[in-house]
Amino acid sequence: SQPALIDRHGRTISYLRVSVTDRCDLRCRYCMAEQMTFLPKSALLGLEEIAIVAERFIARGVTKIRLSGGEPLVRRDVIDLARRLGRHIGHGLDELTMTTNGTRLADHAGALHDAGVRRINVSLDSRDPDRFRYITRHGDVARVLDGIAAAKTVGLAVKINMVALRGLNAQEIAPMLAWCVEQGHDLSLIETMPLGAIDEDRTDRFLPLTDVFAELSETFDLTRDTHSSGGPARYWLVGASRTRLGLISPLTANFCDGCNRVRLTTEGHLYSCLGHDDRVDLKAALRSGGVAGLDAAIDEAIAIKPARHNFRIAAGAAPAVARHMSVTGG
Ligand code: GTP
Ligand code: 5AD
Ligand code: SF4
Repeated sequence: SQPALIDRHGRTISYLRVSVTDRCDLRCRYCMAEQMTFLPKSALLGLEEIAIVAERFIARGVTKIRLSGGEPLVRRDVIDLARRLGRHIGHGLDELTMTTNGTRLADHAGALHDAGVRRINVSLDSRDPDRFRYITRHGDVARVLDGIAAAKTVGLAVKINMVALRGLNAQEIAPMLAWCVEQGHDLSLIETMPLGAIDEDRTDRFLPLTDVFAELSETFDLTRDTHSSGGPARYWLVGASRTRLGLISPLTANFCDGCNRVRLTTEGHLYSCLGHDDRVDLKAALRSGGVAGLDAAIDEAIAIKPARHNFRIAAGAAPAVARHMSVTGG
């Protein structure tokens, strides 16, 4: 069997993020421009190819797979993919999970659970209908809340992802945490990252989580928790509740030293860092060289994994990378 995936900086890769589509039914202002050009459907990896690549990663030591996008639930065969990958849970794979915007979650929560998913992350930047509509440009928050409720009903643990945005949802962060405690959800707060052109300057909206945390500490009893979800968040327990508050602070507390992740795009490119353009074409390698070609290409991608991202939020600065987060799946 092939050696485990360890990069030049000694980091072991155990987490594969798979973007199954770059499309989305929403247009969150910090994520996308109003007018987006998506990849032609002909460029996408088929379900079988995604599964072969993912299974190769499992064989090489990946224990956690997250399906993301774009919005993963807009891809028609994503549940089939989840079922296929779910068969590996307990046989190399510890966790199969998904990050979704929740708009179609009510329809699919049961099938995800049946596939072996036990925990999902749902993006929810506001619970206020008007503000949610403003941030997402198209979204109906009631549908997302229904989706979250459906997920809970079928037994999926839910983590809310909230991008902290100055002047947009800052005042809603404390109420969101209180709501999560009441509902039994975890909450991860995220700093906005400079990926892809949007219709505004991210500087105006950037809210350092150091500030947010200082403010939350005044109202909530927060205890540092060494729990790791295998993702980039640092966690705090909230009072005596089961809720964990996670902070994802790429700008104010770099976490690249502990990076365990690589990303497969919907076109079959493997990015070893969210913040760089270096990538390896796994689709071409698989189509021309089979599994041996795939292994060699994976090794190449791990070998060039950068030490860290170079994100910075500065007025007038171009995004650190031109592609949107929806291409690389976060
Ligand atoms: P858990 O398994 O619950 O820990 O999830 P996760 O945080 O790994 O995944 P999720 O898709 O919910 O991502 C939350 C945020 O973290 C998104 O904004 C991602 O883009 C961001 N994120 C995940 N991995 C990285 C990373 O390696 N670097 C950076 N800069 N951001 C990341
Ligand atoms: N910066 C930070 N987070 C982002 N997301 C999408 N675009 C960005 C960005 N530019 C978030 C979404 C979702 C998660 C996968 O990434 O809100 O919760
Ligand atoms: Fe869609 Fe998620 Fe981007 Fe919003 S943040 S536009 S829900 S991919």
